[in-house]
Amino acid sequence: MTESNGRERTVPAGAGDAQAAGVRANDTTAFAEFRDEVERVWNENSAYWDEYMGEGNDFVNVLCWPVTEKFLAVEPGQNVLDIACGNGLTSRRLGRLGARVVAFDLAEGMIARAKRRTSAADGKIEFRVLDAGDEQGLLALGQERFDSALCNMALFDMAEIEPLFRNLYSLLKPGGCFVFSMVHPCFNQADATRYSEFEDRDGELITTYGVRVSRYMTPSMQRGLALRGQPTPQPYFHRPLDMLLNVGLKAGFVMNGIEERAFPATHPPGRHELGWGPNFSEIPPVIVFRLQRQ
Ligand SMILES: C[S@@+](CC[C@H](N)C(=O)[O-])C[C@H]1O[C@@H](n2cnc3c(N)ncnc32)[C@H](O)[C@@H]1O
Repeated sequence: MTESNGRERTVPAGAGDAQAAGVRANDTTAFAEFRDEVERVWNENSAYWDEYMGEGNDFVNVLCWPVTEKFLAVEPGQNVLDIACGNGLTSRRLGRLGARVVAFDLAEGMIARAKRRTSAADGKIEFRVLDAGDEQGLLALGQERFDSALCNMALFDMAEIEPLFRNLYSLLKPGGCFVFSMVHPCFNQADATRYSEFEDRDGELITTYGVRVSRYMTPSMQRGLALRGQPTPQPYFHRPLDMLLNVGLKAGFVMNGIEERAFPATHPPGRHELGWGPNFSEIPPVIVFRLQRQ
């Protein structure tokens, strides 16, 4: 319930509403109406994204990749699926580890950039335009074909995730794993604001950095900027952890790896004191999961 007297406004978390309406039980239709916007926006942003990201920024290099590489434990010759591959920066890393990579993305512009960046030295990589919500398209990749699958920092960009988890299960070989990294839904989402506080306590000047979370339980779509200066804000889909993981567990996966990732206190400071960096070494902006097919 929202209360307002004209001068004050309280914004409730809304979890009660969502639970009463039963929307937390599944994700099958939650944000399907935004699918076309996602495709349009990522096409509009593809050139900017590619130039800014290149072969990876600190989020990829420091937070995501070390755990991703460990969780995937790729062996030469293995078939690996790179889901929502963007400009292919992780596809090339997988290819250089000796994997045979199939990489796909919803945005044609991203796949065009990925192909342009990739050379024979990056290994065996096949890029495709495909929507992770397209069940037939996914199954056509080949059942029980892949030793592992990766989705690096993209599940929260997808309007629907249930078709992906359900079909991915049959694309993986028995024992195959699905590794995915995401913005941490508790601390790195539109309703989690970063702050700094300054105090003079017993003559000591103390600055404390933290995150205030005003809303978590209710899934939501909000538009934001992945990269400062990008042409068009993109839809972000917030899903609480239980909703997200239950989609995977319901598909049959078991979880056997999880790491929350924060920048170390020794990481070089960025341009803004409230940007993710060493000031937030106690708060993880990224979480990485490893699910396994039985
Ligand atoms: C933040 S980028 C991450 C790209 C890449 N994984 C990386 O780490 O650089 C998110 C990507 O998800 C893609 N995407 C969003 N929804 C998708 C969907 N339903 N199917 C496939 N790709 C999708 C976007 O086009 C975009 O390239």
